[in-house]
Amino acid sequence: MKIMVLGGDGFCGWPIVLHMSARGHEVMIVDNLARRKADEELKAGSLTPICSLPDRLNAWHEITERRIQWFDLDVARDYDGLLDLIESQQPDAIVHLAEQRSAPYSMKSPRHKRYTVENNVSATHNTLCAIVESGLDIHLVHIGTMGVYGYGSGGGTLIPEGYLTVEVPTSDGIGRVAKEIRHPTDPGSIYHMTKCLDQDLFHYYNKNDQIRITDLHQGVVWGTNTEDTLRDERLINRFDYDGDYGTVLNRFLMQSAVGHPLTVHGTGGQTRAFIHIQDTVRCLALALENPPEHGERVRIFNQMTETHRVADLAKMIADMTGCKIEYVDNPRNEAPQNELPATAKNLQSMGLTPTLLESGLMKEVIDIAQRYGDHYDPDRIPCRSQWKASKTDASAGIGS
Ligand SMILES: NC(=O)c1ccc[n+]([C@@H]2O[C@H](COP(=O)([O-])OP(=O)(O)OC[C@H]3O[C@@H](n4cnc5c(N)ncnc54)[C@H](O)[C@@H]3O)[C@@H](O)[C@H]2O)c1
Repeated sequence: MKIMVLGGDGFCGWPIVLHMSARGHEVMIVDNLARRKADEELKAGSLTPICSLPDRLNAWHEITERRIQWFDLDVARDYDGLLDLIESQQPDAIVHLAEQRSAPYSMKSPRHKRYTVENNVSATHNTLCAIVESGLDIHLVHIGTMGVYGYGSGGGTLIPEGYLTVEVPTSDGIGRVAKEIRHPTDPGSIYHMTKCLDQDLFHYYNKNDQIRITDLHQGVVWGTNTEDTLRDERLINRFDYDGDYGTVLNRFLMQSAVGHPLTVHGTGGQTRAFIHIQDTVRCLALALENPPEHGERVRIFNQMTETHRVADLAKMIADMTGCKIEYVDNPRNEAPQNELPATAKNLQSMGLTPTLLESGLMKEVIDIAQRYGDHYDPDRIPCRSQWKASKTDASAGIGS
């Protein structure tokens, strides 16, 4: 299969690119390095020393003799370039990861809000529009977020994989009919809002132009490396620990490695869905190699393997490492605690065996954090973004 990965230099994208190349597919990357530029803007960087993209690609070629091409293109702004590329490369599938993915970054200022909306919504729309204009039969796979369902208190209901059956009153006001609808969205940040908007774009293009689309609602990713990125130091994946891009579990593991207290928002009663990066790449392979039928509605899978309460995660790591826990003001405008009962059976029924949180794997991440801990800057740990103007600075972040 010929696969074009938009955003293939990123934290999820790079391991996906290598995994699909290792499985014998022809893979190419489209990435404008926006994420590396955000590192410069934030004066933060990956804890692990990531190589330049050309060096990564040369290393992969040296080890595997497989070539991966990179096209430096802004998917959100260069529509003509994207269309030309799709027409000339004729991919069978496009994996779309080219979005600004940090909730705290999206809440930093009006400029960051506008950038996130313009970048993410235009990148998604340009991709869909170019697929239609190319006339090619391309399967689009997108990574969305479990956050589209919202982190409400739960109320005893189960989050389905995308669709929900509801009863709607008939026009005569007497009867009721069952109707399948997309689960209502309830975004908790500008970033999450863009993922909700993406869903409408997918719905429209699927209905109007019969584009085959798989939308993977992913949980918070933890871990750093996969079997492929471990093959050579130059292939190492990025590890974000800062208050904007660092995701909660990786931040805790890194904080414990460098002797920083684990920074928990509020009471830590927030429940989130999680997935290990190795499972992210396996899920993508399952989605790509089992495309929807022609005429099938947008396929939505929940890409997560377990849920945990933030305070429980902190306690688990504190018990494991003896580090301290610090409860700080929560910069987010969210319920102090929530449940997240969610279904995630589809990918498992297709063959995913979940990599669950256990001390061995967490230890591996702590080892990485210890190994590269001298690159750590304590000033980068606090999350400076505020969801509401009245809130004060806090020093934790859930990340995506
Ligand atoms: N990391 C997580 O925990 C997580 C959780 C849920 C969902 N996701 C989703 O998965 C996807 C990938 O996330 P990630 O962690 O790899 O993010 P990332 O920021 O590391 O990677 C995104 C990549 O897209 C590129 N990009 C952004 N805008 C672009 C544009 N306009 N044109 C070309 N390239 C562009 C960036 O340079 C970067 O390499 C995102 O859409 C994110 O919302 C991630």
